Amino acid sequence: MADFIQIKLCRICHSPKLIEFFSLGVMPPPNLFPKNHPRNLKRESFYPLDVCLCQNCGLVQLKHTVNPNIMFKDYIYVTSGSKTMVNHFEGLAKDIMGRIKTSSEPLIVDIGSNDGTLLEQFLKYKVKALGVDPAKNLAKLAKSKGIETIASYFNQITSQKIKSKFGKAKVITATNVLAHVGNLHDFLEAVENLLDTDGIFVAEFPYLIDLLDKNAIDTIYHEHLSYFSIKPLLLLFGMHNLEIFDVERLNVHGGSIRLLVSHRQKTDKHNGVNKLLKLEESFGLNKPETYHNFAKKAYSKRQKLTNFLNSLKSKNCRIVGYGAAAKGNVLLNFTNIGKETIEYIVDSTPQKQGRLTPGTHIPIFPEAKLLEDMPDYTLILAWNFADEILKKNSQYRKQGGKFILTVPDIKIV
Ligand code: TYD
Repeated sequence: MADFIQIKLCRICHSPKLIEFFSLGVMPPPNLFPKNHPRNLKRESFYPLDVCLCQNCGLVQLKHTVNPNIMFKDYIYVTSGSKTMVNHFEGLAKDIMGRIKTSSEPLIVDIGSNDGTLLEQFLKYKVKALGVDPAKNLAKLAKSKGIETIASYFNQITSQKIKSKFGKAKVITATNVLAHVGNLHDFLEAVENLLDTDGIFVAEFPYLIDLLDKNAIDTIYHEHLSYFSIKPLLLLFGMHNLEIFDVERLNVHGGSIRLLVSHRQKTDKHNGVNKLLKLEESFGLNKPETYHNFAKKAYSKRQKLTNFLNSLKSKNCRIVGYGAAAKGNVLLNFTNIGKETIEYIVDSTPQKQGRLTPGTHIPIFPEAKLLEDMPDYTLILAWNFADEILKKNSQYRKQGGKFILTVPDIKIV
């Protein structure tokens, strides 16, 4: 596959009726943090980031697909870095274990298993756990914790191999995975093939309504090919004989949903599904102007943020960033804010420390630097973890440091 391709047809219904409503320009994939060396910086590749709506089925999606091997073979983000996510996964495992019909040692397969954070929670129960993740570095990390992990994409070939070796899965989880999948049909065929007759497929992903409502521009990036709402998903799951039997809205990652999916049972639509379908209609998800309004707000927020940071700079204030999140990198590239404005960024991920942010080349340091250095303002780039970050940095705030939030609106905390 080329480095990137432009799609001509919708990823779900294959309609050519795609209308572009928003462009973030070109930027490097936001999880590719270059080392601070001229050779690495020269090699950085920039790809377009344009968003479309399928006028036929309603799927919001990127106009281009970047070759997944560029983004996922060596992955820098580790889930265990956030307490919020560890607690969230503890709740997820508990909920699902309470729902499955007991079998002696049910097989739980986690797709996009990262460093095994979710499977560790399932392993508190008597289960057989198996992770699947294309990032070799993460599979190695998970294996070192005793979690069996296949370093591969999840597709029909992997699914068949797992089924032959381990049998069918009682539970298949995919948290923050579905949006990353280029071939949704192959992926769901693979789920359908591996899922036990009474098994549960759990999918979590950011919800389109939250993205639009909070104007969370920076959650749009190359890894996220789809921005899901319920309506196109019903069509997609139906095409693969799968059925959504429960749905829940979640606070994680700025507003997500959890779907519980089973083999098709031809039951009436679940109440929660009907409720969200109504919400999506009243929100105007089927109307192009909803998306054009989102884009208008996004461009105006970009202007507001640069004006705001420039005004602090003109008063000689020092500004740094908190959390070298992928979304933070999108915001910085979209607003064209670089080292002249943000001196450095602190982040808890050891693999990110010492590297530079993609595109904007801002240096990354451990979190402790904030209190040692006491800059005047800290822009929270990982805004989805704002509560956790504010809590752990109470001393910085007591000593006069101020945090800036950008979602839903720009404000000083
Ligand atoms: P996250 O928002 O989870 O994901 P994405 O990269 O998909 O936008 O990234 C959060 C980043 O913030 C991650 O690099 C870890 C960092 N972080 C801290 O440095 N300190 C913290 O207390 C927390 C919660 C996160």
